[in-house]
Amino acid sequence: MTNNNSTISFVLDDKIVNIDFKNNHKYTPTTTILEYLRSLPNHKGVKEGCAEGDCGACTVAIAQLNNYNKLTYKSFNSCIIFLPQLHGKQLITVENLGNSNTLHPVQTAMVTNDASQCGYCTPGVVMSLFALYKNINNPNKEEIDDALTGNLCRCTGYRPIVDAASQACVNKGIDKFTKNENDIISLLTKINKQDTIAIENDKQKYFLPFTIEEALKLKIKHNDAIILNGGTDVALRVTKRHEFLPEIIDISEINELKQIKVNDNSIEIGAGINLEDIKVAFENNFPQLSSLLSVFGSKQIRNKGTLGGNIGSASPIGDTLPILMAYDASVILVSTKNERKIKLRNFITAYHTTKMEKNELIKSVEISKVPKDTIIKSYKISKRKTLDISTVSAGFRLNLDENSIIKDIKLFYGGMSAVTKRAEKTENFLIGKKWERKIIEQAMPIIFDDFAPLSDARSSDDGRKLMARNLLLKFYLQTMKV
Ligand SMILES: Cc1cc2nc3c(=O)[nH]c(=O)nc-3n(C[C@H](O)[C@H](O)[C@H](O)COP(=O)(O)OP(=O)(O)OC[C@H]3O[C@@H](n4cnc5c(N)ncnc54)[C@H](O)[C@@H]3O)c2cc1C
Ligand code: FES
Ligand code: FES
Repeated sequence: MTNNNSTISFVLDDKIVNIDFKNNHKYTPTTTILEYLRSLPNHKGVKEGCAEGDCGACTVAIAQLNNYNKLTYKSFNSCIIFLPQLHGKQLITVENLGNSNTLHPVQTAMVTNDASQCGYCTPGVVMSLFALYKNINNPNKEEIDDALTGNLCRCTGYRPIVDAASQACVNKGIDKFTKNENDIISLLTKINKQDTIAIENDKQKYFLPFTIEEALKLKIKHNDAIILNGGTDVALRVTKRHEFLPEIIDISEINELKQIKVNDNSIEIGAGINLEDIKVAFENNFPQLSSLLSVFGSKQIRNKGTLGGNIGSASPIGDTLPILMAYDASVILVSTKNERKIKLRNFITAYHTTKMEKNELIKSVEISKVPKDTIIKSYKISKRKTLDISTVSAGFRLNLDENSIIKDIKLFYGGMSAVTKRAEKTENFLIGKKWERKIIEQAMPIIFDDFAPLSDARSSDDGRKLMARNLLLKFYLQTMKV
C-alpha cells in the first residue's frame, strides 16, 4: 500500500538514520550515497574520482539481511546509488572499520605492506578488501584480483595491495562487525519494508514499492516514470549526463523479482537478482553465462546491476544479450492483467527499444536446459579484460549430427549493429555442411555481408568485421578441443 511515507531509514554508525525527503532542502531522492556521505562531518574518507562507477574511489560496503536473516556484506560504488536505495540496509564506510588506535585487519595489512602512497584510492581499496575479508577466507590470487577489479590505483601499484589482501583475509571473516551483528539485525528488522515509500514534491517523484502488484499499479498511474533496478545504467543519466529524472519507480526492493524457479526443463531467473549472484549460482547450469559475467564490469557493478536491467537497456553492447539469445532465453513480462512470455531474440526491436508495453515490467528470464548435443559459447572482445565495454561480443549455438554435419547454427553478435543481431547469411551458408576448417574458412568472409558496423573510439568498422569473422574461427577451433 502507498502511504504518505516519504521517509527512508537505514543504519549508519550503528544507529538508525531517518531521512524525510518532504521539505528537505539538503537531499533529493537522486542524491547519491557518495554526495550524502561527503555532506556529513565524519564520513569524508569516501572519495569521488569518476562519478560513474569506473574508479572505485567511492567504494563503500552495504550489509543487508538475506533469506536466512543473516547479514551479507558487499562492496558498492556509492557514486551511482541513490539515497533511497539504502532503505533497510546498513551503510559501512572506512571510518566504521577502525581508527588510528584500533585498525581493522585489512587496514593493518595495508599499512604493513606499504600499500598506499597518495592515499586517494585507499579508502575504496580498503572497503573492497573488507567485503573480500567478510566473504572469502584465504582467497586465491584470482579471487583477490576479482575483488579489486573495480578499484583503480594510480601510484602504489597493485602488488602490495594484493599482498595485503592475502595477509588479512585469514580470520574466516570474524571481526568487530561479527560481534555486533545481532544488534544490527534487530535494528534492521525494525525498519518498515511493507508500505511503499512515496517521495513526492513539486519537482520530483520517487516510489519504492515492495511488491510487483504495487509497482505495476504505480506504473499505470505514472506512465512515464523510469524504472530503476540496480541503477547502474539509470544513475549515470544523473551523475554523468546531469539529467533531471522527474519520476522514478525503484523496483530494487521487490523480493518477488529476486526468485530463482527451477522447472522440469528450464530455469527462471528473477529480473531483480544481481549479476554477481547469477554468476555464482549458474556456474554449472549455464557456464557460458557465468564465464561472461566474470568479465562484466567489476564486483561493485555486478553486486548492483541486474539481468532485468541489462535486457531492459536493450543496448547493442549489452553483454548478456548474445549469450542469453544463444541459450534461447525468453523474457517473462508482467502487467496488472496478465503475464506473457516472449523470446529474447524477438524482444529487442531497435536501438534501446523493446516490445515491452508501458504498463509492463520484466519479471524474469527463462532459460531452457541445454540439450547434451548442443554446444554454446560466449565471447567478449574489449580493450581491457575487465571493467570495459565490449567492442564486439558473441553468443554461438551449434548442433551437429553424428557425421559432424551442421544441423543448426545460430551466431548472435553484439557491437556489430544497432541491436544484437544474427549473422543469418553466414548461418544459412553453414547449415547442412560439414563442421570442418575448410568450410569455416569459406563462411568467414560472408560475415562481412551480414553486418555494416560503425567506427568509434573502440574500433573501426573494418576492425569490428575482422573480430566478428575471427570469432567464428575461434569457435570452430574450440569445438575441436571438446
Ligand atoms: C562502470 C560500469 C561498468 C559496466 N560494465 C558493463 C559490462 O561489462 N557489460 C554490460 O553489458 N554492461 C555494463 N554496464 C552497464 C550496466 O551495469 C548493465 O547494463 C546492468 O545490467 C544494468 O542493470 P541495472 O539493474 O543496474 O539496470 P538499471 O540501471 O536499473 O536499468 C537499466 C534499464 O532497464 C530498465 N529496467 C531495469 N529493470 C527492469 C525491469 N525489471 N522491467 C522493466 N525495465 C527494467 C530500466 O528502466 C532502464 O531503462 C556497466 C555500467 C557501469 C556503470
Ligand atoms: S567515483 Fe569512481 S567509481 Fe565512484
Ligand atoms: S595510492 Fe595513489 S591512487 Fe592509489
